[in-house]
Parts: sequence; structure tokens; C-alpha cells
Amino acid sequence: MTILHNLAPSPEISHKTVDLPVVLSPTLDAKLSNVRELLARELPETPTENDACLSCSFQAEDVLLLHLVRELRPDIPVLFLDTGYHFPETYIYRDRIATDWKLNLTNLLPVHTVIEQELELGLLYQTAPDRCCALRKVEPLFSAVGNYKTWLTGLRREQARSRTALEEIADFTLPSGVTVRKLSPFADLTTRDIWQACAFYGIPLLPLYDAGYTSIGCKPCTSIPTDPNDPRSGRWAGRKVECGIHIQAAPNR
Ligand code: ADX
Ligand code: SF4
Repeated sequence: MTILHNLAPSPEISHKTVDLPVVLSPTLDAKLSNVRELLARELPETPTENDACLSCSFQAEDVLLLHLVRELRPDIPVLFLDTGYHFPETYIYRDRIATDWKLNLTNLLPVHTVIEQELELGLLYQTAPDRCCALRKVEPLFSAVGNYKTWLTGLRREQARSRTALEEIADFTLPSGVTVRKLSPFADLTTRDIWQACAFYGIPLLPLYDAGYTSIGCKPCTSIPTDPNDPRSGRWAGRKVECGIHIQAAPNR
């Protein structure tokens, strides 16, 4: 464990390597213009009820996306999966951004509290993380997202091998059979792009990045990256790569 904590994330995945003051490179400027164009196209100027929501983990990508979306839709419904297992720092940061940015935030809760689940089923994050994610993340998110036509995420192709084919706009079919339009406007952005843009816009970041975390989910399933070149290598101790919220139901045959 000590050895893992001595690993320094590579410059590409550490926000500390971004120099200040920041000027956006022409490439990143163009990418952000494309993002703004996509958002303007996909989010009608006059919102209708339940036309769009944004799922937000309060990691850097999501907060940057929220910053850009709020230029058009300051009241966009923001959905946070409150699994009960997040780091205290995440809860404090969520509350700070929610207050400072006057977010229209919904904390999605699982059916059972952490205590109820642990009394009945034990430490699922150790024994059956897929089941734990299904109960605490997938089910609450899918039942909420089904109420909207458009679902915005901060997903990026570079994040994981499981995301290399990610499309900016794709239909996503939920287990209920409802299909939503899933937007991932940052599909093409790199980790460095995210750090640069956050620094440029002066967006305060979740303090856990300062401690060396590079991809941040529930506390029991998140560590400092074990591979300094893979930002997600600290998630689920390498036991799995996706929690399930980005895997859509198989089509009916
Ligand atoms: S995860 O599936 O491994 O947890 P990741 O942390 O990369 O996902 O985040 C990818 C996207 O999933 C985010 O941009 C966000 O839309 C959504 N997401 C992840 N965790 C949460 C959360 N706790 N609350 C709301 N959305 C989340
Ligand atoms: Fe449970 Fe870990 Fe999944 Fe969080 S990330 S819901 S603690 S298994």
C-alpha cells in the first residue's frame, strides 16, 4: 500500500502539472467551441419540463461540463448518486458547489441505507461489488434518467478501454425499455484538456485530486492510481472497470 501511495501520477493525468496563468491552446479552444455548439444544438433555448438532466459525480469533467451547460441552462437538473459511500471531501465539495452555483441538485438515494444494506447483505463492495453498484448506483440512476429525454454525462473516450468507442450522441435504452438521448460532449477531450479548461475558467476542484487521486468514486472502491499512466487504475482495485451505469440493456430479441 505504501508503495502505491508513492507513485506519482504521470504529467498527463495530474492537474498539478498545469501551469498558471493558463491560456487555452487553439486546439482546446476549438474543442470547447464544438462542445458549446453541440450543447446549443441539443438543448433547446426554451426548456420544456424534464427535457434534459446532467449526471454529476463532482469529478473535474462533470463540474466543467456543468459550468458550460449552465451558460445555457442554469437550472438544469443535476443528478448525484448518493451511494452513502462517498469520501467526506466529496460531500463537502458537492455542497459547496451546489450552494455557490445555486444548483438544481437531486441526490439520488438507493432503496436501503448503508447500515441496512450492510446488516442484511454484509460488505457487498468487498464480496460482490457488481451487486453493490447495481443497488446503489445503477438502479437509482436508471429510474431517474428515464424521466428525461436527454441525459448529459462527462464521459470521455480516453478514460478507459471500455470507452474508446464512446459517441458524443447516442440512444441509450434503459432496462425499463425507455430510450433516452445520451450526450457525452467531452468524448474527445483528454485529461489534460480537462485540467487546462478547469484552470482557465477558475473552477475549484475536488480537493482529493491534490492528494493524488485521479478518478474518484466511492471511498471503499477508490485508491491512488496503481498505474501512474492510467487514471482509472485506482478504481475497484482492478477488479472491474465499470459500475454499470454506462452499460445499456441488451435489445429485446
Ligand atoms: S463510473 O461509472 O466509473 O463511476 P466515472 O466516475 O468515470 O463513472 O464517471 C463517468 C460519468 O458517470 C460521469 O460523467 C457522470 O455522468 C456519471 N457518474 C459517475 N458517478 C456518478 C455519481 N456519483 N453521481 C452522478 N453521476 C455519476
Ligand atoms: Fe458499492 Fe463500491 Fe459500487 Fe460504491 S463503487 S456502489 S461502494 S461497489
